[in-house]
Amino acid sequence: MKILHILGARPQFVKYAAVEAAITRRSSQDGLINKLIHTGQHYDYCLSKIFFDELRIKEPEYHLDVGSGKHGQQTALVLQRAEEVLCIERPALVVVYGDTNSTLGGALAAAKLHIPIAHVESGLRSFNKRMPEEINRVLTDHLSSFLFCPSETAVNNLEMEGINLGGHKGMHGAAFSSMPGGCRLPVVFNVGDVMYDTCLHALRIALERSAILTQLSLGVKRYDLLTLHRAENTDDIETLEELILFLNGATAARQVIFPMHPRMAKAYQLTRTKLGGHVKIIPPLGYFDLLMLLNNAGRLFTDSGGMQKEAYWLGVPCITLREETEWVETVSSGWNVLYKNYRGEHQPGIGRRNAYGDGAAAEHIVDVLLKRMNG
Ligand code: UD1
Repeated sequence: MKILHILGARPQFVKYAAVEAAITRRSSQDGLINKLIHTGQHYDYCLSKIFFDELRIKEPEYHLDVGSGKHGQQTALVLQRAEEVLCIERPALVVVYGDTNSTLGGALAAAKLHIPIAHVESGLRSFNKRMPEEINRVLTDHLSSFLFCPSETAVNNLEMEGINLGGHKGMHGAAFSSMPGGCRLPVVFNVGDVMYDTCLHALRIALERSAILTQLSLGVKRYDLLTLHRAENTDDIETLEELILFLNGATAARQVIFPMHPRMAKAYQLTRTKLGGHVKIIPPLGYFDLLMLLNNAGRLFTDSGGMQKEAYWLGVPCITLREETEWVETVSSGWNVLYKNYRGEHQPGIGRRNAYGDGAAAEHIVDVLLKRMNG
């Protein structure tokens, strides 16, 4: 069975690494052929190649070189160029990851060619359609045949939109559903979060290899970590300046390390309000250094989806720089708080940190695909 994965942005490389490892472990016995498209949405070394090198992801068979651009242009280029590849490769399945323009463009290309789609990190909702990511994930879910959710909340979100007609919530549901005419009904599985798989694997390596604490002269738990890059924050100067004021207040007594995403770097040039001198701005980091910094941080301030969960898994209190979060379990367990609800030091959570599976999500995904596609 030939599987083609479509990736383009930093968090997708982290998610895919776990799936590729699980497929590689099974490919010789189960006849899986794995092919990879890199859309080129992220192209800087520090947002792309370093993740392939560190996580030992194979060289993609196809590069679409879509680069930066407006949403319509970026999505349309992925759609057009992915379609050309899909016509050549004719895979049995296309796998897309998360909520980026690469995901939506790739899913549209596959759907129009009647190629089944598996969506990894399905069912997430912010219920905020001003986020491009929300539009991307809702549409992708409605195009997909296999919806691999990281949590029960995600499964319930899909149910509310009428996506669970196959009725399979668990990992071992009945045979693949079909409708008259051979159309496949979508099937929903709570497999856990593939980012947890990668986080567990990479943390072991980071602890051995990363020298970032020494390089930046940082003491364990003596600093806070900050990341900020979401379009809804960076593209509106008033919102961004409000966040900068909040951050200056909330972190004044602390050292703060801020690996700055290129989108934020562009926006930051335009703000009149600036971060205080206690905030050290550095270039984006590779995955091992980032995990090492996070693991040893006192607090995380972020608008990243992935990092909210990584903080939760590592037991680092998180303050989320958004109006809402898709990762509601991190908040209900007390490990995460939305910045508008933050009133100074919050107690680290007391809730258990097991909402996103068992760290073997990628294995569960491969199990499902082998059973359902071959069955
Ligand atoms: C994208 C995803 C977001 C994800 C994020 C991770 C969408 C809609 N959003 O946002 O879900 O959390 O990736 O980083 O797909 N740029 C560079 N070098 C690069 C890549 C981008 O300089 O290698 C610049 C571009 O000029 C662009 C800006 O950064 O203007 C933003 O890049 P873009 O791909 O549009 O989205 P992200 O903000 O990275």
